Amino acid sequence: MATSKVDGTSNGSVKSKDEEGTTPSIFEIDDSDLTRLLEKPRPLNTERKRWTGTPRSACFEPHPIVGEAWEALRRSIVNFRGQPVGTIAALDNSSEELNYDQVFVRDFVPSALAFLMNGEPEIVKNFLLKTVFLQSREKKVDNFKLGEGVMPASFKVLHNPVRNTETILADYGESAIGRVAPVDSGFWWIILLRAYTKSTGDTSLAERPEMQRGIRLIMTLCLSEGFDTFPTLLCADGCCMIDRRMGVYGYPIEIQALFFMALRCALSLLKRDSEGNDCIDRIVKRLHALSFHMRSYFWLDIKQLNDIYRYKTEEYSHTAVNKFNVIPDSLPDWVFDFMPTRGGYFIGNVSPAKMDFRWFCLGNCVAILSSLATPEQSSAIMDLIESRWQELVGEMPLKICYPAMESHEWRIVTGCDPKNTSWSYHNGGSWPVLLWLLTAACIKAGRPQIAKRATELAESRLLMDGWPEYYDGKMGRYIGKQARKNQTWSIAGYLVAKMMLEDPSHLGMIALEEDKQMKPQMKRSASC
Ligand code: GLC
Repeated sequence: MATSKVDGTSNGSVKSKDEEGTTPSIFEIDDSDLTRLLEKPRPLNTERKRWTGTPRSACFEPHPIVGEAWEALRRSIVNFRGQPVGTIAALDNSSEELNYDQVFVRDFVPSALAFLMNGEPEIVKNFLLKTVFLQSREKKVDNFKLGEGVMPASFKVLHNPVRNTETILADYGESAIGRVAPVDSGFWWIILLRAYTKSTGDTSLAERPEMQRGIRLIMTLCLSEGFDTFPTLLCADGCCMIDRRMGVYGYPIEIQALFFMALRCALSLLKRDSEGNDCIDRIVKRLHALSFHMRSYFWLDIKQLNDIYRYKTEEYSHTAVNKFNVIPDSLPDWVFDFMPTRGGYFIGNVSPAKMDFRWFCLGNCVAILSSLATPEQSSAIMDLIESRWQELVGEMPLKICYPAMESHEWRIVTGCDPKNTSWSYHNGGSWPVLLWLLTAACIKAGRPQIAKRATELAESRLLMDGWPEYYDGKMGRYIGKQARKNQTWSIAGYLVAKMMLEDPSHLGMIALEEDKQMKPQMKRSASC
């Protein structure tokens, strides 16, 4: 298993800004350089130029909206007893706040990366410590006690002006719309702890007993034995960024990719002591089974689609080709047109007789970043994005999923959700926050031009439109019906994309190299 080195030495042939005074253009870097970028640790204490919101020196000209974005990001900082602990989901006072006045764990990730990339790790450290403390609280929904390892979906700081005190109120799903479980929170927390460690070189935070315990509790929760016949993680609907009923129950790609990445990050963070070792053994076994399952059964390209189209059904025993008994008639019409001759992707969900063929952006990008996707699969995902640009990027990056559900299907699957109408919000809406994930995935796959093109599209509108949460329409042309303005992760996502394009060595904090022991299992990919 490849683990990340955290020391202060540089072993990459790609010189950083600090070494040569100039940053190599990402567009000049070849594949072997990219591999080294993942290994190259960040300097221990960054002397790099920080963006403070004041006019920059003449040495590099950022896009004019970068300064505005930093100022907006700083305005969103939430303090607790005088210390910054996170960023608020949206600073939009124009309408009823709903639940946007709190720090969401998943929303804070791009903010945290922006601060780390700018050499400001304190807020990230405070956030990680505060959330691990919240994890250790007893959590209940009505009379039901939640698992020990559950991390909150969000928290808010309450001020008592009379007593002049501050307290934290966390939500583990018991206040969320629909009482959805934040399965992704714990995974993002581990991924962020690794990013902090990798970026600062400070291993002492991850080594603290409460952090080690926090990792183990999350692992215990997701590695516990049950009735499962698959290594993927079974979830209820609305368990991730898509936190509403959208037919993502079962084995959603977003959770499986984050699960895989969190397992790999945990492996690099856990101490090899008696408690850690037991956990490590279970992680290693699960990673092998999970990568085989995902690479074989979630992967779809034209060859695999054609195979499913011709599947026999009702096959019994271990010789079955159609293992999940997928009925070819259940293949949706759109997928035949959508599938390019070159290219492929991890589909949305796989369970008995049920394949969700929709494209989900976050899961596919995380699959690339975590090396769940083989290098060939990563290239194939990039090929798909390029050949289906109108559908997946359109006028405003990026579609959260494709295609949207309409009429009868929308009624049945979403339960007539008026926020998730076709091509809006989670149902085929376009979310600027996804830009950072696309950019990181493109750099890792050696295709940064794709991210550059998408970033330029976003740049032309984001500030003018007031940093909306999401856009609506087939091409993402309209500001979302109920989109919040000044949505923090739209702002931070843009900044992270810009910083990574400017200095690709940032990629190392959020990407993992391929583990050579996990040999690719795919034999039938036409696009590979
Ligand atoms: C919405 C999104 C969710 C996000 C939250 C705060 O509920 O669906 O992913 O975390 O808003 O921005």
